Amino acid sequence: MAFDIARARAAYPALGEGFRHFDAAAGSLVAEPVAQAVDAVYRGAVANRSDAFAPGRRAIGIVADARRAVADLLGADPAGVVFGNSATSLVYLVARTLGQSWGPGDEVVVSRLDHDSNVRPWVQVAEEQGATVRWAEFDPATGELPTWQYKDLVNDRTRLVAVTAGSNAIGTRPDVPAIAAIAHAAGALVFVDGVHATPHQPTDVAALGADFYVTSAYKWSGPHLAACAADPALWAGMFPAKLRPSSDAVPERFEFGTPSFASLAGVTAAVDHLAGLDPAATGSRRERLLTSLAAVRDYEAELFARLVDGLAAIDGVSLCPAPADRCPTVSFRVGSTHPAETSKALGDAGICAFAGDYYAWEYFHTMGLRDSGGAVRAGIYHYTTAEDVDVLLDAVRALAKQAA
Ligand SMILES: Cc1ncc(COP(=O)(O)O)c(C=O)c1O
Repeated sequence: MAFDIARARAAYPALGEGFRHFDAAAGSLVAEPVAQAVDAVYRGAVANRSDAFAPGRRAIGIVADARRAVADLLGADPAGVVFGNSATSLVYLVARTLGQSWGPGDEVVVSRLDHDSNVRPWVQVAEEQGATVRWAEFDPATGELPTWQYKDLVNDRTRLVAVTAGSNAIGTRPDVPAIAAIAHAAGALVFVDGVHATPHQPTDVAALGADFYVTSAYKWSGPHLAACAADPALWAGMFPAKLRPSSDAVPERFEFGTPSFASLAGVTAAVDHLAGLDPAATGSRRERLLTSLAAVRDYEAELFARLVDGLAAIDGVSLCPAPADRCPTVSFRVGSTHPAETSKALGDAGICAFAGDYYAWEYFHTMGLRDSGGAVRAGIYHYTTAEDVDVLLDAVRALAKQAA
């Protein structure tokens, strides 16, 4: 069935402001049911968790519901879903905790395709512990992250391989299952950054071979909150610095202080919203998520092809090379115009598209583009229309003409 874009857009009141949004890779708009769920918690009697009275039990239920929701989204075990303020803070938490047992001779593998949040925490902890960092390189000509190199990078001293499921700069989806198979054969753990990829495709952490998978709800129509999923048995062997009275249980051991119950309710609402994107989807929430996100992937792929083909056809526009099958995200420059200037000019025309390195520091540094402003990023989300794409293409065409 064709994706019902009008129905999808109706769930986003912010679209009423009239901007053309190509900025979901930085943060999507929030779906109405999410705003309502957050609002309901703040307007209700929920203060903190307690077994003793109903509002306290409601708070306990909100947390449990959110774990179940994220588990459904990722194909994970709810008992292994840890919440945190951001993906970055969760990567630091896992890196610092796992890193306690690393020492000289141990190795970690990071990639230059990744957002810095799945790079720097590993590098810093490895350096603190005297462990060695090995780098997986992307191919600048194709934007691929070749799998073969992992056979050379991974050995029996490798403790962890960190890799993205989708580049937030150019959309590349590395072959995570193959990389994970190499890592696992050597006894290493695999930490997958799913922040960019999660809203664009069905996710199955087991199929990916991800020992840890991190995702941020504000990239998929939800609130500013992140989750990291792993096997509860893996979490059980990890001991973060924590307060004495706080719970030793998994996953609570990894969650510090009082959580945002309102945001957690928003997470559940966001997952329910994603599950309902294809109204024809049936079955459990997990099944509906798989169906709906497959419909989203197909819808976005078509629009993305229109966007990339359109950009490629404009004289003076240069695209960062990337594989055809990728998350629907493209980075480009218009002539020699500074990307920030292009972003501002698009902004003046009501088009939201970020410029810079978007924290894909290693990528833009390796491409030699970082010091001169990175690039402009345009991403498709499930509320983007063909008309949005055409408006962006017209605007870029006009800017390219000016720049010529
Ligand atoms: C691929 C990727 N990883 C990690 C992050 C960091 O996420 P957070 O803001 O939740 O720390 C981002 C944010 O843009 C991202 O795009």
